[in-house]
Order: sequence, then C-alpha cells, then structure tokens
Amino acid sequence: MNDTTAGKAAADKAATLSLNGKASQMPMRSGTIGPDVIDVGKLYANTGCFTYDPGFTSTANCSSRITYIDGDEGTLLYRGYPIEQLAEGSNFLEVCYLLLHGDLPNKGQFDQFRTTISRHTMVHEQMTRFYTGFRRDAHPMAIMTGTVGALSAFYHDSTDINDQTQRMIASHRMIAKMPTMASMAFKYSIGQPFIYPRNDLDYTANFLQMCFAVPCEPYVVNPILARALDRIFILHADHEQNASTSTVRLAGSSGANPFACIAAGIACLWGPAHGGANEAALNMLEEIGTVDRVAEYVKRAKDKNSGFRLMGFGHRVYKNYDPRAKVMQKTCHEVLDALGVRNEPLLKVALELERIALQDEYFIEKKLYPNIDFYSGITLRALGFPKDMFTVLFAVARTVGWIAQWKEMIEDPEQRIGRPRQLYIGAPRREFAAIEKRA
Ligand code: CMC
Repeated sequence: MNDTTAGKAAADKAATLSLNGKASQMPMRSGTIGPDVIDVGKLYANTGCFTYDPGFTSTANCSSRITYIDGDEGTLLYRGYPIEQLAEGSNFLEVCYLLLHGDLPNKGQFDQFRTTISRHTMVHEQMTRFYTGFRRDAHPMAIMTGTVGALSAFYHDSTDINDQTQRMIASHRMIAKMPTMASMAFKYSIGQPFIYPRNDLDYTANFLQMCFAVPCEPYVVNPILARALDRIFILHADHEQNASTSTVRLAGSSGANPFACIAAGIACLWGPAHGGANEAALNMLEEIGTVDRVAEYVKRAKDKNSGFRLMGFGHRVYKNYDPRAKVMQKTCHEVLDALGVRNEPLLKVALELERIALQDEYFIEKKLYPNIDFYSGITLRALGFPKDMFTVLFAVARTVGWIAQWKEMIEDPEQRIGRPRQLYIGAPRREFAAIEKRA
C-alpha cells in the first residue's frame, strides 16, 4: 500500500472480526482528519462473507484529497480551506483551480487558468441542433442530461483518459462549456435566441448575460447579483462522495468517456433527494404560502404516513447546521436587499419553518437542520431563474467537483472498476420448464 495514495496504515490498529469461532484481522487506515477506516478488501477472500451497507452509510468507497466534511461539527473544507472563508474571499473560478489542482493559484496561474477556461466557452455550433430536437416544455435537466452526453460525440481529442494532457483539456472543457449549455437550455425553454459567451466577462457574469441578455438591447450585469451567484456556485462546487459524484466515479471506473460520465452525474443530481431538492423546497414554501400554515406542515413532516418531508431539511452527513446553508441564508438577504425586495413572503415562511422545526423534538432528536437547498430557491428565484433551472445551476457549479473527483480517480493507482456485491434474496436455483408444461 502506498501512503500517499490511500491514507496511512493506522499504526498498531487492526480490527478483528470473529466469525464462526475464527478470528480475522483487518487492517485499518487513517486519513489526515476524520474517522479511520477498516479495510475490508480481503474480507471475502478470508471469510466468504460480504459487508452489507445499503446507501453506503458506513462505507468509504475511495480515498480522496479534495473535500472534507465533518457532519457533526458542520464543517466543510475544500482542499483544507473552510467553505466560509472561500465564500467570503475567493471567487468561483479560483475555487475551480483549487479543486482541480490542489492549491490556490498565484496571480499568474490564475490569469492563465482564466484565459484557458474562457477560450473553451463556446460549444460546437452543431450542438444547437440537439437543443432544437427537444420539446420547448422539456425539463432543462432532461435537456442537460442529453446535451452534455452528446459532448462525447464531439471532442475526440480529449477523450483518451490515459493521457494526462487530454484529461486536463476535458476538465477545462467541462468547466467552460457547462454555463454555455445551461444557458442554452434556459433560452430554448423560453423561446429566445441563444446568446454567445463573452470572454471579457468573469465566469459568473458571463453566465448571467448568456441567460438574461437578448440580441436587441445591451445587457449590463449587476455586480452584486453576479457576486451572489458566484458565491452560490462556490457553495455547490464539491461535496465529497455524494450520490452524483459517486455516480461519476462509478461510471468513470469502467474507463468511460469523461463527458458521458458527467452526463451520468447530471442524471443522478436531478432527483429530489439530491440536487432536485432546491426546486422541491421552493415548491413546498409556495404551497405553504403563509406563516400561519407552517405548523400544519411541520406536523405533516413528522407523520410517517403522510409521505411528506420538509424539503431542504436533513442531510446524510450533516447532523448539525449545514455550513453552506448559513452562507446561503446571508446571500439570500443580500440578493433581496440588492433588488429592493422587502417582505418577501416566502422568506418569512422559510424563517418561520426553520424556527419551528429547530425547536421541535422530532427534528432535534433526528438532528435535522436546514441544508443548502432550503434558502437557495428563494435566492435563485429572486435572481430571475425559474424553478426548473435551479438544479441546472447546481449542475453548473458541481461540474468542477465531478471532474476533479473523476480525474483523481483515474490517477489513483488503487482505482479499479467499481463493482459492488449483493445479498441475493431471489429464488434459489430451479429448472426451466417449457411453457406448455407450466401450471
Ligand atoms: N423531513 C422529515 N423527516 C425527515 C427528513 C425531512 N426532510 N429528513 C429525514 N427525516 C427523517 C426520516 O423520516 C428518518 O426518520 P426515522 O429514523 O424515524 O425513519 C430520519 O429522519 C433519517 O432519515 P433518512 O431518510 O434515513 O436519512 P438519509 O440520510 O437517508 O437521507 C436526505 C438524507 C437528505 C435524503 C433526507 O434528509 C431528505 O430526504 N431530505 C429532504 C430532501 C433534501 O433536502 N435533500 C437535499 C440534501 S442537501 C443537497 C444535496 O446533497 O443535494
């Protein structure tokens, strides 16, 4: 085992499993911070048993240097830097560099990175035809799943995953083209012409102009709103081995085309338990409508038979306030102030819902706190995006996390095709009978 790739063997530590009177020793590994892991890689060979962990609640699938979460403390670090500090002092493109390369760039490195990304912002002109093949009322995440997958048919010079340079070019292309493709999905859905990228603008300002400019008049980006969206992108940039990132890693573990892997991540992100929660949270706030109905919805959320959950609440890893939700709440206030929105009724509903839920025994006992999606919907709607674009914006920001994790996996000497095992509970072996002989 190589210390630098898979964490140090935890000195003098091993786990012992006693099974049918026979003891099996399993080595343990330590990371830089966080829980140790028991290496069960030889468990089947030594005992004939698998581990069973649906939803991977206790299973580390890889070692990674990119993002660290302490869910009990409510801590999130990108390459060691706290999310609050990055959200305050950095910008999204710098965070992209950090996630991709491991360190913050100096001025020269940043300028070069910015130039490289801006030179990849256009998509192949033929890509526009893919968009026009969709119904106008298609969900933009459906469009994104298809069109990002279609990129794999275009950029043949950056799909050799064994070539380091090609891997980096594919990464740059993904980061650069996602805003363009997301804005095209949006423009198509509202029947407006696609707007080409403007490389003189910053990453997020350019995205806003591609979404909201029209060819017939000049569009001036509001710097406060651009900064707010940039911060929202920082908050969403990576989140270690979440469902969509694990999907990208699993798809990539077979050696698949990188653009196709990202399309797989987008498909996974769409679900309401994951990235789709921001859209679902705003739908819920709208449905509640007024502060006086909050208690009724909290009651419903506690009733298992109702099938209703508070969207934007709870998290697999955070058993404390999601640190991103705090920054998001602040950003929400900033955006509403900048737009002169006073007394936004949905913000009132959200604040009251949070207040009541955080005092409620059910939520306290289960450690359910607002997550990033709780306030993001109100903020994104105020920025001018329709609900069905919310998860698309999440995808734009998460692309750097996906591609950095994909690259890390390909470059990890321990990487093997991802292939979970199962507990088979189906019919035991039986003999086939021709149809006329069946009862
Ligand atoms: N409202 C009411 N009860 C909840 C909620 C909620 N939002 N979330 C969890 N619970 C209850 C759940 O019923 C269960 O109760 P019990 O132990 O009595 O069966 C307990 O809390 C644990 O829930 P779980 O479903 O076993 O937990 P999980 O780790 O599998 O699920 C989650 C995590 C995020 C899918 C879940 O909390 C949820 O569905 N939240 C709402 C959707 C949401 O906001 N998702 C965004 C996640 S953050 C952004 C992202 O990663 O994309």
